[in-house]
Amino acid sequence: MTLTIAIDGPAAAGKGTLSRQIAEEYGFHHLDTGLTYRAAAKALLDAGLPLDDEAVAERMALEVELAGLDRSVLSAHAIGEAASKIAVMPAVRRALVQAQRAFSRKEPGTVLDGRDIGTVVCPDAAVKLYVTASPEVRAKRRFDEIVGKGAAADYAAIFDDVKKRDERDMGRVDSPLRPADDAHLLDTSEMSIEAAFQAAKSLIDAALIKKI
Ligand code: C5P
Repeated sequence: MTLTIAIDGPAAAGKGTLSRQIAEEYGFHHLDTGLTYRAAAKALLDAGLPLDDEAVAERMALEVELAGLDRSVLSAHAIGEAASKIAVMPAVRRALVQAQRAFSRKEPGTVLDGRDIGTVVCPDAAVKLYVTASPEVRAKRRFDEIVGKGAAADYAAIFDDVKKRDERDMGRVDSPLRPADDAHLLDTSEMSIEAAFQAAKSLIDAALIKKI
């Protein structure tokens, strides 16, 4: 039987790093579902197609190959913005959720992270985590990450961006970002990555013992 761990939360809360560490720890397959929305958005941008035509966006979403998702190519800011625009479209979500669900059934276990994993994609996941942090902390992390790469960054613009992305992700009608009723909340505002990982591991181990 496959075991699935669902990890949701807003942009830049640290769920990507945490998910990769958890997948490594338990020997599970990992899927960053944000990359699937980004891949569909990039295909539209590359083809010069509009971002507001649901049928066209659905076609691109149906062609996304989970095996070919490249974080370094898809992490560009403009792609993230475009992704969150097409993510409001039910047809796009249907297409990508179907592929994500198929992935979640891989043996021996899977870790999926995104916005709607615990609520929509894998409502029966063995463990659900909702990873969050204050908008100020998330903007500061983004800022440090960009500056750390030697690029110029504007904190106020990044903060504004984080808030806008939250509004779009939490305010949409189809699958808005929210914790599942049975999700464990993990606020990483004042936690190191290592502390967040240890907290997540305790929650997962406790849940796994109960499941066996
Ligand atoms: O997590 P990431 O920033 O890569 O996601 C890009 C966008 O894709 C998000 O802002 C969100 O709108 C959308 N998304 C989603 N559902 C998911 C994962 C991402 O709507 N499960």
